[in-house]
Amino acid sequence: MTKISVSSPKAIKQASKILQEGGIVALPTETVYGLAANAIDEKAVAKIFSAKKRPSFNPLIIHLPNMEEAQKYAEFNDIAKSLAARFWPGALTMILPKKKNTNLSNLVTAGLDTIAIRVPANKIMQQVLKISALPLAAPSANKSGSPSPTTAEHVAKSLGSEVDMILAAGKCELGLESTIIDMTSKQIVILRPGAIIAEDIEDIIGYKPEYDFGIHEKPKSPGQTLRHYAPSIPIRLNAVDIRKDEALLAFGSTKFMGIRGGGRISDLPDYAFKNLSEKGDLYEAASNLFLMLRELDNGKNKSIAVMNIPNNEIGIAINERLERAASS
Ligand code: TXA
Ligand code: MG
Repeated sequence: MTKISVSSPKAIKQASKILQEGGIVALPTETVYGLAANAIDEKAVAKIFSAKKRPSFNPLIIHLPNMEEAQKYAEFNDIAKSLAARFWPGALTMILPKKKNTNLSNLVTAGLDTIAIRVPANKIMQQVLKISALPLAAPSANKSGSPSPTTAEHVAKSLGSEVDMILAAGKCELGLESTIIDMTSKQIVILRPGAIIAEDIEDIIGYKPEYDFGIHEKPKSPGQTLRHYAPSIPIRLNAVDIRKDEALLAFGSTKFMGIRGGGRISDLPDYAFKNLSEKGDLYEAASNLFLMLRELDNGKNKSIAVMNIPNNEIGIAINERLERAASS
């Protein structure tokens, strides 16, 4: 198993060197851990697809340290520039027309003429971007289809033997992947909801962008196939009580929850009970979602019941991930 390196200046330099030499490194971002490679190096990018068992038609996000670098790879219209000025560095990914004649590996964009770009805020990721001086292709550092990792230990569990290094920096602040918006048609569309919500974007663009998660129709984003973020055991949503053999992923108070056939939620063993946020805070819940899904998928539980999560603000992103995790 790959050794996890705590992100000291020395480890950050080492990670940058591995990337320059064509290796793949898992590293923290403010959303989830990413699995990074030099986006110019075809062989390095291929290693990401093979480590994740990711289908080659599913393109990657390019991470850059700032707007100046980002403009080398994509065409930014005035609205895209305003969004970048407001939300970068941060948890917003924009799908933009790809600049012609870039030196990027074709694998990164899966042959599309659009490109997904993000300037991340996480300090360690920023340092790696600056020291390596590379555009970094980085999907979430999990096996394709399973929940994204929010700790270095989760990366080690799912990809430990495949990556050259894991740079660790505790739990990711947001815990859910970036908001993805499609900037390539007349009206801006949210393809993947995240911590930056429709109303935040509306403040800049003057109208509320529509959602198109591609859950029920053909997805615009190749990665939006239905089943995703899924633990190895079944998930049941909007539970108002649980069955005898179910674990509970709670949100807020469990006062009115019961166990069918009798029994109290408070008597559930630790391995069968997690609360996303006792005080009912959606941001706390978002940061715990993937972590707790993994903790409940521990070999002792047969299935997970999830309490209702309010479908507003970042709750929309939580519910979108849960709906995918629950679909089979
Ligand atoms: O928060 C995040 O975005 C994390 C961190 C590491 O930055 N990354 C991440 O990457 O979630 P990934 O590969 O797990 O998800 C990227 C999504 C995929 O669903 C992919 O299909 C979509 O972005 N995507 C990438 N390029 C695209 C394009 N040109 N057009 C449409 N969708 C695209
Ligand atoms: Mg992913």
